[in-house]
Amino acid sequence: MNNKQISNICCIGAGYVGGPTMAMIAQKCPHIKVTVVDLNEQRIADWNDADLDKLPIYEPGLADVVAEARNRNLFFSTEVDQAIADAQMIFISVNTPTKTYGVGKGMAADLKYIELCARQIARVAKDDKIIVEKSTLPVRTAEALSTILNSTGNGVEFDILSSPEFLAEGTAINDLQVPDRVLIGGKDTERGKAAMQALVDVYANWVPLENILTTRVWSSELSKLTANAFLAQRVSSINAISALCEKTGADVDEISRAIGADSRIGSKFLKASVGFGGSCFQKDILNLVYLCQHFNLPEVAAYWEQVIKMNDYQKHRFAKNIIDKLFNTVSGKKIAFLGWAFKKDTNDTRESAAIYVADELLQDRAEIHIYDPKVTKEQIIKDICHCEEERRGNLPESETTKELLKRVTIHSTPYAAMENAHAIAILTEWDEFKTYDWQKVYSEMLKPAFVFDGRNIADKEELTTVGFDVYNIGKGK
Ligand code: UDX
Ligand code: ADP
Repeated sequence: MNNKQISNICCIGAGYVGGPTMAMIAQKCPHIKVTVVDLNEQRIADWNDADLDKLPIYEPGLADVVAEARNRNLFFSTEVDQAIADAQMIFISVNTPTKTYGVGKGMAADLKYIELCARQIARVAKDDKIIVEKSTLPVRTAEALSTILNSTGNGVEFDILSSPEFLAEGTAINDLQVPDRVLIGGKDTERGKAAMQALVDVYANWVPLENILTTRVWSSELSKLTANAFLAQRVSSINAISALCEKTGADVDEISRAIGADSRIGSKFLKASVGFGGSCFQKDILNLVYLCQHFNLPEVAAYWEQVIKMNDYQKHRFAKNIIDKLFNTVSGKKIAFLGWAFKKDTNDTRESAAIYVADELLQDRAEIHIYDPKVTKEQIIKDICHCEEERRGNLPESETTKELLKRVTIHSTPYAAMENAHAIAILTEWDEFKTYDWQKVYSEMLKPAFVFDGRNIADKEELTTVGFDVYNIGKGK
């Protein structure tokens, strides 16, 4: 069957990766039936909601793609077994968080969701299938998948491919539509090549063939970790320089512009910030570090681990600067947070710097007032509780999470969040933050009125003229 054209695809996992990726495949390949399944009933109901504003993830342009393909050849369902049985090709897009227990705790990827999928596929499949790992996974996962799947003894054969997703949230639709490259890793056997070709043929419906790279499985898996490690390293590198800029009076944005003009360096991923977040960077680097340790390469592990340490330092530095400038305490002071998502144009908050900054300020007994254009109140509360409980695991505190939450208010309008505040902290670079009436904001705040711009997006000159005391990342006073 591997030489046949694919006409039925199933994707397990309707999240930030599975949802948009399958919507794009369905839009570009009307001849392929694409079914996205998930155990989470609410998530599937949201994907099926007639009101496209209710889609479970916010991603510019996604609603149009879903509207075009949904119920034509794109389906969202909780009938996992049925979708597996019917599909010729199965994408696995379930979450692979960092392990929070046991061996590899805090570093290795937790593969339990992947393993469950593999066992379910093995149980249900009655004919040969191509399995595509689409989640971020450490090297050798394909091998583990293959071992589970091919030990059923019922004669069904599985071909495992690795095809890591390189979409970035906020620009996912464009990244999927015109990808720099699509990567497909497979076995160098006749069957392996035929499976890779079947997936190449799917992407070839809209991606030029020269942008579809086929590699061995391990190269594909490791490329994903390496790409994210390199990108994160650029952010940590410029953030390291931002600390030096603040001491010397240099301007980190000027440095980014100057070094980015060097074509060998390039201009992207040089924006100093309060720290990188997102579901991938930290997790993938921790995976890389774990792999290096596993293969007894401690120097290589330490090299990459430093990228994370620098990021932790940057988040901490930002929070500490707020406390320092507010006369060494934020206890009982109102700090307005503009932004909670880990970057603009997404409602995803995983590993967002805002969570860590909030936690440090709450430890110093600040009152936090949060406004984000897309993140729900429930998500913000969940993030704070989760962070608090993790920290508490190591460090018992007298205050309960419930008491701590009394000092957190979530607003649906920005002006209410900033009214009577001692300081504003900009955590996400949402475009709308540049359009506010700063004169009005200033008049309604306590004086001296501080702005801590963790994204260097506000017009410093304008704000200073209005009367604010403005602190940026990487700009000396
Ligand atoms: C990343 C990779 O870019 C993508 O290819 C991969 O598939 C998943 O991980 P994502 O996490 O969605 O994508 O967003 P990205 O744009 O890479 O930003 C990650 C973090 O770095 C954000 O918190 C962002 O604000 C921060 N960042 C990015 C900076 O602080 N400065 C920069 O110059 C660029
Ligand atoms: P990502 O950013 O990698 O897409 P998400 O957490 O957004 O991660 O999405 C992963 C999805 O996978 C979740 O909606 C989760 O419910 C789903 N999932 C996890 N395990 C299974 C499983 N065994 N069967 C079906 N869906 C699953």
